[in-house]
Amino acid sequence: MYAKFASIGAYVPQRKVTNFDLEKIVDTSDEWITKRTGIKTRYFVEDETTSDLAVEAGKIAIKRANLQPSDIDMVIVATITPDYFAMPSTACVVAENLGIKAPAFDISAACTGFIYALSTAKAFIQSGMSKNVLIIGAEALSKIIDFKDRTTCVIFGDGAGAAVISATENKDDAILDIDINADGSYQDYLITPGRGVKYGCETDEIYLQMKGNETFKVAVKTLSQSVRDILERNNMTSDDIEWFIPHQANYRIIDAVARAIKMPSSKSVLTVGKYGNTSSASIPMAINDMFEEGKLKKGDMMLLDAFGGGFTWGSALVPFGGENS
Ligand code: COA
Repeated sequence: MYAKFASIGAYVPQRKVTNFDLEKIVDTSDEWITKRTGIKTRYFVEDETTSDLAVEAGKIAIKRANLQPSDIDMVIVATITPDYFAMPSTACVVAENLGIKAPAFDISAACTGFIYALSTAKAFIQSGMSKNVLIIGAEALSKIIDFKDRTTCVIFGDGAGAAVISATENKDDAILDIDINADGSYQDYLITPGRGVKYGCETDEIYLQMKGNETFKVAVKTLSQSVRDILERNNMTSDDIEWFIPHQANYRIIDAVARAIKMPSSKSVLTVGKYGNTSSASIPMAINDMFEEGKLKKGDMMLLDAFGGGFTWGSALVPFGGENS
């Protein structure tokens, strides 16, 4: 049995925040943010939680896969902003609100969360344990950002993206390859110190902290190697890829990695300008934009890559298996 990427959906909260809005609350400028990151706008939740965003994205993905909630036999949510600190998992809340009675669990792999979820779904399907797995990357990052810290608050955004991964006997539709990795020696480069049992309530450092410059350098080097490796071991080049859909952290990281694999800019998908860095949601949100714009067609080979806190990173070669309406 093979696993195919059967459908895509996404959801973005209503409240749009521009760089000019941020200029009013921290010492920053539209010019600095645009030049260093490519970000112009992002969306923030108001009353919604991470599970609310995930449910909306999940509904769309299930519908586009021509399935009912009762057909879904596993729910995986990748998030670093779960509704609850320890339990229940966000996936349990999402499954309940979608009317799904099936195993449900969260994955914590920061911005690489969607690729980790994809890899997990693929393994469950190939083992014969699952037939239709709903995977969702969902984040309400505005809830863990310090709006007094200009080095982080300008970068992140909220949103969710979902996909149904289904069993197929057709090898041509199969997810071709996935590579996931981690190196915990970088654990303090991207960290929320005060949200776990280590420091708990004894610290007021409850917000996301980032060593931006160092993270940038490791991200470019590691991702360039990861995408080069996955292409090489599948005897592929950028010519064999229709769409390069990377995690949307920063246009300069995306550009540097694209150059390393000679990916023409016409094939690189850039949504960071619109949504900011939405962590585990950014890849499925970008895939969804391509789908809704009518650019992504059934059978198109997607090269995905992501890098995030941990550090974690990964890449994937995935033919799009969704039907265009
Ligand atoms: N507005 C204006 N100035 C800012 C600023 C902001 N929002 N944030 C930082 N600065 C200032 C710094 O204080 C520094 O000033 P100084 O030179 O007077 O000390 C200057 O800009 C340069 O800071 P630096 O951190 O070296 O900038 P940079 O070119 O590395 O860009 C990032 C900063 C965060 C955009 C960049 O490092 C980055 O994108 N890193 C990767 C982050 C990331 O993607 N994380 C998630 C991974 S999934």
